[in-house]
Amino acid sequence: MAELAAVILAAGKGTRMKSALPKVLHQVGGKPMVKHVVDAANFAGAAKKIVVVGFGAESVQTTLEGQTEFAVQTEQLGTGHAVMQAQPLLKDFSGTVMVLCGDTPLLSGELLQKLYAEHKAAGALATVLTAHMPNPSGYGRVIRGTNGEVTKIVEEKDASPVELAVNEINTGIYCFERAALFEALADINCNNVQREYYLTDVIGILAEKKAKVWAVAAEDHDETMGVNSRRQLAQAEKVLRMRKINQLMDQGVTIMDPDSTFIDEEVTIGSDTIIYPFTWLEGQTVIGTGCEIGPNTRIQDTKIGNDATLHFIYAHECEIGDEVIAGPYVHLRPNTVLARGVKIGNFVEVKNSTVGEKSKLPHLSYIGDTDMGAGINIGCGTITVNYDGKLKHRTTIENGSFVGCNSNLVAPVSIGEGAYIAAGSTITKDVPPAALGVGRARQINIDGWVKRRS
Ligand code: UD1
Ligand code: MG
Repeated sequence: MAELAAVILAAGKGTRMKSALPKVLHQVGGKPMVKHVVDAANFAGAAKKIVVVGFGAESVQTTLEGQTEFAVQTEQLGTGHAVMQAQPLLKDFSGTVMVLCGDTPLLSGELLQKLYAEHKAAGALATVLTAHMPNPSGYGRVIRGTNGEVTKIVEEKDASPVELAVNEINTGIYCFERAALFEALADINCNNVQREYYLTDVIGILAEKKAKVWAVAAEDHDETMGVNSRRQLAQAEKVLRMRKINQLMDQGVTIMDPDSTFIDEEVTIGSDTIIYPFTWLEGQTVIGTGCEIGPNTRIQDTKIGNDATLHFIYAHECEIGDEVIAGPYVHLRPNTVLARGVKIGNFVEVKNSTVGEKSKLPHLSYIGDTDMGAGINIGCGTITVNYDGKLKHRTTIENGSFVGCNSNLVAPVSIGEGAYIAAGSTITKDVPPAALGVGRARQINIDGWVKRRS
């Protein structure tokens, strides 16, 4: 039987977000807020995880499919009521229940681990994670007795002026021994300004019974920040972004301008790669060592090898090999694989295609649904004509061929190894290896035409 279970509260609508999307699904660092919390709970060793869903339950469940169990809170009657909904799923569980909120995306697994360890070491029935906030407004205040012991938590809306002046706040994160938690929850009521069943009242109830209530203060108050509004969402994004950028710099990545660089949490980058300003690196992007990325570049879910140079490009769901030089103004669309040393740039789009080693597509081309070998030169303005209005067709271009400028390759078609295509051709038939394919009207010159015209 697992020792630690986590209950993550995520049923609220998040009224202050003014959004059709449940609050906990808003993304920070390219990841829904609640997923950050689930990941932190996993890190802390929570084998059993229950997410309490309500508003937008289906979309939250789809997002976390297979990662947690779910309890449904049909009416949002408060945080205490939300935890009660998890009780049936915990009836055979006898360890510690960690309660978390789905709207604290900056939380680290290390902090939760520390909270759990201190809760155990203190032998407490309840431990609340607190933080000292320069501006505590909006949070519940932690009220201590004459000996420094926690006596209760008061919500801002219910607080007296003296209580409001306290800057130690409730982060909304706790450890409880299961039996004590549900016994105390049975005693809470909604006699408060918000007419809600507050989980925070459990602390006061246990303290009154002289049960051991403990508090652990988080050193970094950013970490426990709760996101209730779009402004706070932007603040959280900034904190997470800087955290990621600092981590990468510590690992040997140069980030020229942290303020204009946006890197999602799960992106990895090798050492001695330089990231130029105005660059977005998103999703599951993996970048090797010694690359130069940006300026003005957006990369999503793409794998990039070592020593690649990519500037002014947009790439999504692609693979870019070692030593590729791409840009400026290149669009690499899904399922594009560029092998080592490919050179591509100045207004080129590639989609669902493979390009072999050291092939060059230097200017103004569209290559779609194409298999290209190595050492190929694609002349300026080459277009693969891949779509007949109903179906997409593939083009094959074999090793070492040379496609002259402004050619149309009408798919399905193949260009054999080492073949040449005359500039300005429209190629509709396969070209054998080592042949010259010419598909254009012959030029005629009409002598004296200009004089006759006038
Ligand atoms: C809560 C705490 C407050 C603390 C703050 C920290 C209570 C009464 N107050 O206030 O002391 O300082 O968090 O951020 O607990 N939720 C449900 N069902 C409900 C109500 C809420 O699942 O019926 C969920 C929300 O989706 C959210 C979390 O519980 O993830 C916290 O709710 P929220 O409304 O944000 O509480 P706060 O007012 O921030
Ligand atoms: Mg909140």
